[in-house]
Amino acid sequence: MIWKILEKRIYNPYSEISQTVVLQGESGKLYAGVRIENLSFPLTMDAVAVAVSSCLSEGDRPAELFMPDRPDRLTQSWCAEFSISCTRGNPPNGELFDPVVPKGENEPLTLLKKTVEHAHVPNSDFRVAALIETDDGYVTGANIETEAWVNGLCAERVALAKTIASGIDTIRGIHIYAPKADFLSPCGACRQVLIEHLQHHPVLLYYNDGTITEYFTSHLLPFHFNSAWLKRKKRN
Ligand code: THU
Repeated sequence: MIWKILEKRIYNPYSEISQTVVLQGESGKLYAGVRIENLSFPLTMDAVAVAVSSCLSEGDRPAELFMPDRPDRLTQSWCAEFSISCTRGNPPNGELFDPVVPKGENEPLTLLKKTVEHAHVPNSDFRVAALIETDDGYVTGANIETEAWVNGLCAERVALAKTIASGIDTIRGIHIYAPKADFLSPCGACRQVLIEHLQHHPVLLYYNDGTITEYFTSHLLPFHFNSAWLKRKKRN
């Protein structure tokens, strides 16, 4: 039944590929991981990347990964790098972790400053935090780096991935903070990923001097890559 719940959260408009995992953190919390495709295929996020970065960005440590299928190479490499044991089968019974921090509990900047501490940045030492604002609150994300730089995820994508993997579809905007940035702005890859889920939504950038600048996703990436050709033909 857990896999049925997670299958509904997969974002795969371009393929029939389904990937779901559940990661148990050292805290005992169960983090959801689902495949999140992108129109620009190489920007697709793998279920294991989503689950591991969700766990780390909460300040938790990944312990055991559960999946319905045999682990593929990418899954094996995440498990090796973060010393995660990998089990084919169901996770222990329990509620999946709900990442939403209710509004009013924290100001966005306070939450961003807490979240940035969870960034995993052995390569860059450059911490970034992001919050996806939903109707009910905020979902946090921090940048997660891997030995093979290409598998890591920016803070913006971690926050978005956690939101989607949690089955939330009331996204209102994104807040971003990087303590070491003189001028802050999301990278091109994140813009392409964000635009697929936040078409005309506010992007708020926070600076150390208390300044906030606001843009819209659609203004940050005019002429983004788009094509109806790549949409999967729905089977009846
Ligand atoms: N990074 C982000 O998290 N967001 C951005 O928009 C740009 C870059 C991260 C990725 C990597 O961990 C570090 O900053 C240096 O590139």
